[in-house]
Amino acid sequence: MKFQSIQEAINKKSGKVAIRGWVYRERKSNQFIFLVIRDSSNIIQTVIKKDKVDKKIWDGADKILIESSVELEGTIKEDKRAPTGYEIEVSSLNIVHYAEPFPINKDQSVEFLADNRHLWLRSRKMISIMKIRSTVFGAIHEYFRDLGYYEFQSPIIIPGGAEEGPTLFEINYYKEKAYLCQTWQLYAESAIFALEKIYCIAPSFRAEKSNTSRHLTEYWHAEVEAPWINLNELMDLGEGLIKHCFKRVLEKNKEELKLLGRDIKKLEPVVKKPFIRISYDDVLKDLSKKGMKIPWGKDLRTTEEEEFMKENDVPAFVTNYPKDIMAFYKPRDPKNPKTALCFDLIGPEKMGEIIGGSIRDENIEELKKSLKALGEDPENYKYYLDTRKYGSVPHGGFGMGVERLVKWICGLDNIKDAIAFPRTPARFKP
Ligand code: 4AD
Ligand code: MG
Repeated sequence: MKFQSIQEAINKKSGKVAIRGWVYRERKSNQFIFLVIRDSSNIIQTVIKKDKVDKKIWDGADKILIESSVELEGTIKEDKRAPTGYEIEVSSLNIVHYAEPFPINKDQSVEFLADNRHLWLRSRKMISIMKIRSTVFGAIHEYFRDLGYYEFQSPIIIPGGAEEGPTLFEINYYKEKAYLCQTWQLYAESAIFALEKIYCIAPSFRAEKSNTSRHLTEYWHAEVEAPWINLNELMDLGEGLIKHCFKRVLEKNKEELKLLGRDIKKLEPVVKKPFIRISYDDVLKDLSKKGMKIPWGKDLRTTEEEEFMKENDVPAFVTNYPKDIMAFYKPRDPKNPKTALCFDLIGPEKMGEIIGGSIRDENIEELKKSLKALGEDPENYKYYLDTRKYGSVPHGGFGMGVERLVKWICGLDNIKDAIAFPRTPARFKP
């Protein structure tokens, strides 16, 4: 017989089926052995009846431990007591591999699960998250490609940084110092002169100093860059991207969201309602009404973002942060020169910053001044400054942390669960 996935077998509802997968649960009595089998599609209860099968099958099943791999055939029928509503009565069973005692069982510490991440990936929680993550990656590609964006890749090994210097990972590149990229942006700014509208999804690296629930040291960064774009159009693009990802997950992953206990009523407003757009100045006014006095010029901290977002069920674009605390490439807003033409998208439900974006400064002297203020040598940025010399155009882009988005969609407490093998200041193994 041809094998089918567990979900296909369930959809068939009755008759002969053949499935293969791993033993998820086992329970044995004198007359019956119940094996719940798992594959990537679902789980299903199977039953082996002592008086209905060969002694060889019964004896084989009697020794089986969880996570053993099996192939089996039998008859499927509805059974309300079974975990997914169906049960297969087994007629033949092939044990492909007898598993050793599986180290993960109930109530294990976070540390233990992290050490055994390669095995913990098989949990229904991680399977659900990884499926949603796959939907999100697909949705990002689909969104940008449908809008006519080209996928463009930049190097991971780079000569100098773009974001905060202290988060650069230094590497030993033969006899020279090199770094791991924090963003594709500076290279993307060269490539728009060739391809115009471009995007990528790639790892970015940040030597974050401490463990938090929303920082990884290696994360997947969805970035976009385009010429002839203004700040409002850039926000439209970001809003469309998030809405598209949410829409696709709601279409494809209802079961996974249910398994994670995620209330989809929290996700629906993000698809249906327009996002908030507000300036940094107005956020300070709002916080001041709520009793939080922030001196103008200071960046918003997590507690302040959370206080501001408390009542909101959709994210907010906060625009025009103070120029002096922004990355060197963010230009002054001619209408409000103390501020930069930039935005952060802040998520609801204490999710914090999801996207950071801006228009890019075209003024070489301003760029050099900002670089020097950061202690950088403008000579190292020659390739970048050159882009402003030969047919410079207004342009902008943004970056979205994909794990931040997955954490939000899945309603996770910690970003570590939004990626299979998380890298944090405290851990880079397994
Ligand atoms: O705000 P950031 O630093 O912006 C940039 O890197 C720009 N060059 C992007 C661009 O315009 N092309 O990072 C962008 C996003 C953040 O909003 C956040 O979602 C995510 O990257 N991010 C992290 N995600 C996980 N772990 C970290 N340590 C992150 N640091 C930033
Ligand atoms: Mg940022």
